[in-house]
Amino acid sequence: MTLPIDPARLDEDDIGTKRTRLEMGHEEAVEHVRRVFTDAGFGIPVEFSPSELLNEKVDADRDPYYVLGACNPAIADRTLDATDNRTGGLFPCNVVVWEEEPGMQTVYHVSMRARRRSVRGAVTMGHHTFDVDDADKLEETAWRYRFLSAEELLWAVSPSPEHTVADLGSGTGFYTDDVAPHAGEVYAVDVQKAMHEYYQEKGAPANVELVTTGIEDLPFETDAIDAAFSTMTYHEFASDDALAAIRRALGPAGRLAIVDWTATGTGENGPPLDERYTADAAADALRDHGFGIEHEATRSETFLLVATVE
Ligand SMILES: C[S@@+](CC[C@H](N)C(=O)[O-])C[C@H]1O[C@@H](n2cnc3c(N)ncnc32)[C@H](O)[C@@H]1O
Repeated sequence: MTLPIDPARLDEDDIGTKRTRLEMGHEEAVEHVRRVFTDAGFGIPVEFSPSELLNEKVDADRDPYYVLGACNPAIADRTLDATDNRTGGLFPCNVVVWEEEPGMQTVYHVSMRARRRSVRGAVTMGHHTFDVDDADKLEETAWRYRFLSAEELLWAVSPSPEHTVADLGSGTGFYTDDVAPHAGEVYAVDVQKAMHEYYQEKGAPANVELVTTGIEDLPFETDAIDAAFSTMTYHEFASDDALAAIRRALGPAGRLAIVDWTATGTGENGPPLDERYTADAAADALRDHGFGIEHEATRSETFLLVATVE
């Protein structure tokens, strides 16, 4: 069994920015933190003292250390919905009050960002997944077309009305909408149900079918897809399983277009540089999975690959 949270993925920033010191006694600090959270709309449904427990059970001789489990019911409810019930293992939001020395307490909690990241990581093979809360950004037309235009994508995918096309990691359907009028049937594949709900609310074209699944588990028959494309998502799904699943689903003359943020970019837009791949690395991975590379380009912030089944 794997844990829903990977402690190794928590870095200093995740707790450091939410850390403070209180110059007061331990019990007073616990009550102070309780009041602050209650005033901000949180309840404290669970709480316990690890120091008391460990001192009693294993004679640990620990200084006072207390955990308050804070929960904002409305936010918790929305979070469960947005993650298909997967966040429950991280509830509630633990706030720690520990005594550094008598009269001086350290207070910290792990930020929601880190918790969400850890859950998504567990859900999607350890890669970070685009946050649904930021979905509106994917619809900012001028910003999106700065990095990949509709014309360029259509050139790379080369759809035709006879083609069945898959958009892998379709998000809000921003680029699905550009390809759909030129294709027969289009599958918009995304692992996050909430992204599909966003797309549905926006209004998906009639020939687009929403498929909620991880790319590594594509439900299509072997050779069922004529062309597939993925925009700004390769860094989130890159794995042997995902590439093998894409290769299986693509027919003998299948075409795959991948555009993503490049590791050689500046990092001013898009994901952090250390989460990205270079065009060469992505091309090598595709070759390892039976693709030939027809076109490879690295621009200032993104790379574009067009591959065909060999
Ligand atoms: C950065 S967004 C890009 C969305 C869209 N391609 C675009 O350019 O507007 C990445 C999307 O890929 C989805 N995603 C990430 N990993 C995935 C995986 N393994 N399988 C399916 N979808 C995935 C995320 O849920 C998210 O909606």
